Amino acid sequence: MSRRRLFVTTALPYANGPFHIGHIMEYVQADTWVRFQRMRGHEVHFVCADDAHGAPIMLKAEAEGVTPEQLVTRIAAERPAHLRGFHLGFDNWHSTHSPENTELSQDIYRKLKAVGLVYAKSIEQYYDPVKGMFLADRYIKGECPKCGAKDQYGDACENCSSVYSPTELRDPYSTLSGAKPVLKSSEHFFFKLSDPRCRQFLKNWLEQPGRLQSQVVNKAKEWLEGEGDKALGDWDISRDAPYFGIRVPDFAEEKYLYVWLDAPIGYLASLKNYCAKKGLDFAATLNASEQIHFIGKDIIYFHTLFWPAMLKFAGAPYKVPDHVYVHGFIGVSGEKMSKSRGTGISPLRYLDIGMNPDWLRYYIAAKLNAAVEDIDFNPDDFLARVNSDLVGKYVNIASRCAPFLLKRFGGKLHSLAGSHEYGAELFGLRPDSLLHEVRARGSVIGALYDDREFGKAMREVMLLADAVNHYIDEKKPWDLAKKPEDATRLHVVCSVAINAFRLLTIYLKPVLPSLSHAVEKFLRVGPLQWTDVESLLPEGHQIDKFQHLMGRVDEKQLDALFESPAPAAAPAARSPQTHAEHQQHAAREQAVSDVITIEDFSKLDLRVARIVEAEAVEGADKLVKLTLDLGGETRTVFAGIKAAYAPDALKGRLTVMVANLAPRKMRFGVSEGMILAASGEGPGIFLVAPDDGAQPGMRVK
Ligand code: MSP
Ligand code: ZN
Repeated sequence: MSRRRLFVTTALPYANGPFHIGHIMEYVQADTWVRFQRMRGHEVHFVCADDAHGAPIMLKAEAEGVTPEQLVTRIAAERPAHLRGFHLGFDNWHSTHSPENTELSQDIYRKLKAVGLVYAKSIEQYYDPVKGMFLADRYIKGECPKCGAKDQYGDACENCSSVYSPTELRDPYSTLSGAKPVLKSSEHFFFKLSDPRCRQFLKNWLEQPGRLQSQVVNKAKEWLEGEGDKALGDWDISRDAPYFGIRVPDFAEEKYLYVWLDAPIGYLASLKNYCAKKGLDFAATLNASEQIHFIGKDIIYFHTLFWPAMLKFAGAPYKVPDHVYVHGFIGVSGEKMSKSRGTGISPLRYLDIGMNPDWLRYYIAAKLNAAVEDIDFNPDDFLARVNSDLVGKYVNIASRCAPFLLKRFGGKLHSLAGSHEYGAELFGLRPDSLLHEVRARGSVIGALYDDREFGKAMREVMLLADAVNHYIDEKKPWDLAKKPEDATRLHVVCSVAINAFRLLTIYLKPVLPSLSHAVEKFLRVGPLQWTDVESLLPEGHQIDKFQHLMGRVDEKQLDALFESPAPAAAPAARSPQTHAEHQQHAAREQAVSDVITIEDFSKLDLRVARIVEAEAVEGADKLVKLTLDLGGETRTVFAGIKAAYAPDALKGRLTVMVANLAPRKMRFGVSEGMILAASGEGPGIFLVAPDDGAQPGMRVK
């Protein structure tokens, strides 16, 4: 295999706040991939930077009474500790507010202008006369021109979902000052994305086999090939003062480059800054490397249209990205993460309360695949995967066998050469032997890492860990240890297990930097590389005294992590009601509720579910704990139906559940949805059931 040279980036986070769990997920994905490539012997330059410019950062700084520079400097100062905390091994972390970025952005701008892809045009825009600035759509509110809903943003109505331009709003006002905006014209610069050269280039770039995920190609082509009012327009790349950004060069008036123009150039600025520190030639490094960007699904537009087109037409030394790898979003307990509200969990709090970063890395890796799919951080699932799989299966192999080796054999390994009487029988390198099996999966696991199928890779490793544990269960070292005549057998069995443990460590190393480091020390081996799969620890190899490698997640830590949980949207089970409340409730239910739109209704994700388990909840007189099968996915729901149904009678039945209800932490556990049941004024609760033939997972509409 020839040595790859890789220039890898993650999206540049806005420099207006600390990292959230979405950032950490992206960095874990990229960092794991980078660590894998390095273990394979490839050269990687892995960089990122803060995205410092733009109106929101300028306004936030103003609100805090500091300069934008002070704000971004403060945020930047927090980054290293957080990156180190999660073992995110970026080679360089820079800023878009830097000399390198100014130079590169102005250079690219000039080059695009020189090839006739930048033109000036006067446009009319809302202007806040009090604040003295032009207003982006998000800073204008007013009445929806279609349905009349008040306080709608300048681009779309949250009530009726219609899309319009801010000038169509009735009674518009600036959210910055409350003033009535006025129309004012100003000259802007546009990047001519509609130029046939750009379109032709982008079509080819997008269609290059293996460059992008197919979902991403489809999305980008939809934009590229849109017609009528969906047609891809030219891109407004300048902003008027006041703005925090990079000046439009060669222009007397104070104009700035739009933040989304200079932001991706920040990838190159960070590489350039890194090259200078390392004594590398920037242009040569850029040219010799595959350029790979890891990003989230919300910024596909910029990375698959503008960014490659900018690079292409700016010409040398710039080159177009080789791959843009897109991931979905991480939510917490089924709730979407929002930039403004955040989520129930903070990665910084995670570190502060002493939770192990490798747990989170493992959990994220176990959930990730190569598709643009959202994933969920679910506390119970997290606890189960870390404690039962990572610790219970993998770490446990060492805990089960190392003590015998250390106590009985001075920590020295037995020969595993096929010649030994036990060795030949137990493992030699016969195709059916355990070590052969563990080793043979290496190429599959390597290919999965390469393809960013980390979830599948983790499953493969855990299956192997199962096989190793099964081997230990079968050979029973604890019994062998009782009989002196079985000493060699004991020695061999434990040596096999420790060798298997070493192989599994190689497979997990990209995901678990600190744990694998501890294992390397314990095994007294140098930094494990991928090719080390080909060798075994030799006879007489001495291992170190066994140290505790990794603890289990304690439920209390998860409680601490969720200290101030986001308020649940709706109760997952009926809460006890007072008599008066009950009366009121019944009265309200008689009259049909307010009219809702079809959009309101379609927000409900109702699914057919099979009740696979049902048990009474100790200490709760109304609740039954249900395990529901949604056709592959399993949910736990606490339902207040004990008065009407014996748990055993529920098992195997089909019902309908609300599958997208925010999970709710209850005294007895987390309820992950709600099942549907009818009840009236009289006694009785009646579970809703679909007609014959319905299958778990089917949507109810
Ligand atoms: N500053 C821009 C990116 C400029 S790149 C030249 C930006 N910043 S961001 O801070 O909002 O997002 C940074 C990255 O985090 C993006 O790739 C984004 O998709 C990702 N995520 C933000 N929220 C996320 C989740 N909830 N889950 C996973 N990734 C998410 O966009
Ligand atoms: Zn409306």
